[in-house]
Amino acid sequence: MPAITVVILAAGRGTRMRSATPKLSHDLCGRPLLAWPLVAARAAGANRLVLVVGPDDRLANGLSGELAAGSGAAVTVPAWAEGVDLAVQAQPLGTADAMAAAARLIDRDDVVIVLAGDVPLVGAELLSSLAETHRASDAAATMVTAVLEDPSGYGRVVRDGDGAFRRVAETKVAGDASSAELAIAEVNTGIYAFDGAALLDSLASVGVDNAQGERYLPDVLVVLREQGARVATLTAADAAIVLGVNDRVDLAAVRAEAQRRIHERHMLAGVTIVQPSTTSIDVGVEIGSDSVIEPCTQLLGSTTVGAGAIIGPHSTLIDARLGDRVSVVHSHLVRCEVRDGASVGPFAHLRPGALLREGSKVGTFVEVKNSDIGAGSKVPHLSYIGDTDLGEHSNLGAGSITANYDGTAKHRTTIGARVHGGVDTSFVAPVTIGDDAWTAAGTVVTSDVPPGALAVARTRQRNVERYDERRGGG
Ligand code: UD1
Ligand code: MG
Repeated sequence: MPAITVVILAAGRGTRMRSATPKLSHDLCGRPLLAWPLVAARAAGANRLVLVVGPDDRLANGLSGELAAGSGAAVTVPAWAEGVDLAVQAQPLGTADAMAAAARLIDRDDVVIVLAGDVPLVGAELLSSLAETHRASDAAATMVTAVLEDPSGYGRVVRDGDGAFRRVAETKVAGDASSAELAIAEVNTGIYAFDGAALLDSLASVGVDNAQGERYLPDVLVVLREQGARVATLTAADAAIVLGVNDRVDLAAVRAEAQRRIHERHMLAGVTIVQPSTTSIDVGVEIGSDSVIEPCTQLLGSTTVGAGAIIGPHSTLIDARLGDRVSVVHSHLVRCEVRDGASVGPFAHLRPGALLREGSKVGTFVEVKNSDIGAGSKVPHLSYIGDTDLGEHSNLGAGSITANYDGTAKHRTTIGARVHGGVDTSFVAPVTIGDDAWTAAGTVVTSDVPPGALAVARTRQRNVERYDERRGGG
């Protein structure tokens, strides 16, 4: 079987985004726009990935930096960018010219699939079936088309009386398409499969005789047809795959569609999403069955949630790892781990490096950072726990604070198992509290507490008798 090379055209300027960030670096549900076609191409079994970029645009620089950084030890290249070859188009002279820039990376025996960088919803399924259809046919090129209710802006597919492909009438600027052609609802999606040799041999024959003075890639199909080769079409059942991103209005529309698909995938897999319209779930998030996602909740980045969990309402999880039957209410969690049966919130903040072991609890107005909370332990109210190891089945009182920073360095607090912390205890790190120890309410712990001991460190209470009367009463 011929190898599949996927070429992604991305040398356009993206000026309509009005952004200091390159268009294809904008986020779509947890992945840059550019990553979407690359991920789809990889999933469809592409043997080679080629990205066509401009010479001095920010995307080219950003990406070559990102891709080149892969060879160094310090920076990790995102998985989607691994092994991608860059081709540089000197000037944006049209899609056929962009294709020509990639010619040296194409083998004559390859099947070449062409995609646009700014059309993110194309899926692996469509690319696989395109490759299949193309391999199984004797066509030199196969173009994916879609029938749209509103085809404006797209190239229209013009066919002969017998239905055979004739040409694509471009509509980006006036002059390429007749009014009869503008009435055609079938459009070119910009997704094609070519025989490598046919593509390479016909690219040079594409001229600039059109309204934009550019070299149009769909004209390759016309050249092939005129040479007597067969040009096939494949109509995509799912018209949303053509949605492209040119400005931020498009980006919002594509995001809505991408998010709808992500939600649907989770719901069909057994996750309840109570109010999809207020729930954001990034594309890389995993959720176990019978979990419930309550309204106004964001599950972002590489977050994973186990089975039977209840997340939200009003919670944000970024790169968080949650086990089964976890509950999170009105809370903000970043790069932390919450194991089976643990509960978080309402109004908790779990910061990077927080680990809540099985059945533990971090409650109301509690912040935890870089700390290990033992199985069954509880920090229920109004506390800051930083750089701390807390053993199993301990309970810290309301207002427990670890003083982990002395103005110069951070220090750890070590608290054993089955410790009873009194309310308003401060632990001045570095300090160690033994197993089964106690602290009295209001204690400031500045030295280690032996196992089983009670630490009391506060001024003794003095009552001034008849105080009210002596100051004049009433
Ligand atoms: C193109 C098709 C049109 C189709 C539509 C589908 C052509 C001439 N027309 O139009 O039939 O309906 O896609 O979305 O191909 N690019 C380069 N270098 C260039 C020009 C473009 O790399 O010189 C890249 C762009 O970054 C983009 C892709 O090619 O990713 C498509 O270019 P664009 O200008 O958006 O073409 P459309 O007008 O959308
Ligand atoms: Mg476009």
